[in-house]
Amino acid sequence: MKSLRFTMAGVCLAGLLTLTVAGCAQNAERDKKDTIKIGVAIYRGDDAFISSVSSSMEEAVKEKEEELDRKIIVNIADAKNSQGSQNDQVDDFISKGYDVICVNMVDRTAAAVIVDKAKEAGIPIIFFNREPVEEDMGIWDQTYYVGTDAKEAGELEGQIVADAFKAAPEQIDKNGDGKLQYVMLEGEQVHQDSLIRTEYSVKTILKEGIPTEKLASGTGNWMRSPAYELMQEWIKEYGDRIEAVISNNDEMAMGAVEALEENGMTGSSGPIVVGIDGTRDGLEKIVKGEMIGTVMNVAQKQAECMVEIACYCAQDENPKGQVEYLNGRYVRIPHYIVTADNIDEVINDK
Ligand code: GAL
Ligand code: CA
Repeated sequence: MKSLRFTMAGVCLAGLLTLTVAGCAQNAERDKKDTIKIGVAIYRGDDAFISSVSSSMEEAVKEKEEELDRKIIVNIADAKNSQGSQNDQVDDFISKGYDVICVNMVDRTAAAVIVDKAKEAGIPIIFFNREPVEEDMGIWDQTYYVGTDAKEAGELEGQIVADAFKAAPEQIDKNGDGKLQYVMLEGEQVHQDSLIRTEYSVKTILKEGIPTEKLASGTGNWMRSPAYELMQEWIKEYGDRIEAVISNNDEMAMGAVEALEENGMTGSSGPIVVGIDGTRDGLEKIVKGEMIGTVMNVAQKQAECMVEIACYCAQDENPKGQVEYLNGRYVRIPHYIVTADNIDEVINDK
């Protein structure tokens, strides 16, 4: 009996020791990973949509910190539209031992350089908003992409226009020729979203049985003031012939609305204006009736997915099957239409 008790004690002691050693290893592991460091490189900080993605990331991180009971540092670097600066910023994140790096490429065709560096350092990369070519995503299996489906955005934008036209043809078709005369404000020419949104918005209007006539198009590089300048020119040239302003995003739509306001062309006397993104300013214009609608590009959800993937990667866990909308290594957050019909709900949800 005595020897049995001795043996039992021995077993317990040995068990305790093993537990302690395991506990120590776990603690060391936890200490090492106590703080999760996420580096975020954005193409330019004065882009309205991108800045809402960055601030949503900061919000999402606060919630994640509570959930994981762990400190998470997010450092956002603005490349101010220079790929060279962005490469340096990524180098800096790598040398400072960041756990994950999120990259909003300045030049989306230049991703290979960044993937190569990250691969060598063993640091997972989450690209967002500006999608690298498949070949570059293929270099390493620790690369992800978070964004949306540009075709879907274009189709929904076209749908807003078609629905409005059908509901009030006499108001929109000002010259009564049965066609929609429009001007198109395009985003950056190198951005996958610009060409695709442009193409599918018009295709959808045509598919809905409304013939179109393009009066003019030009790029405002996603920004308000070049769009304002273009719109001023178009108003001079085409004036009341413009029945619709279709913009690849809300910021450029804002520029167009400003120009229309200055020329006394807003409201029912002027052309309809439609955008994409659902920025705060865009939503306000819908409330005022100066834009007929927008397509919500859900910054918050994109930010949440990035933070989720980043935290799984930082903890050496596979995000597969864990993150909503993650399909392979791609996340595409669905868009939805915002018009006068649902604007109140949308604003209340924000
Ligand atoms: C688009 C967005 C634009 C602009 C651009 C930047 O998805 O609609 O407003 O932010 O990304 O890459
Ligand atoms: Ca017409």
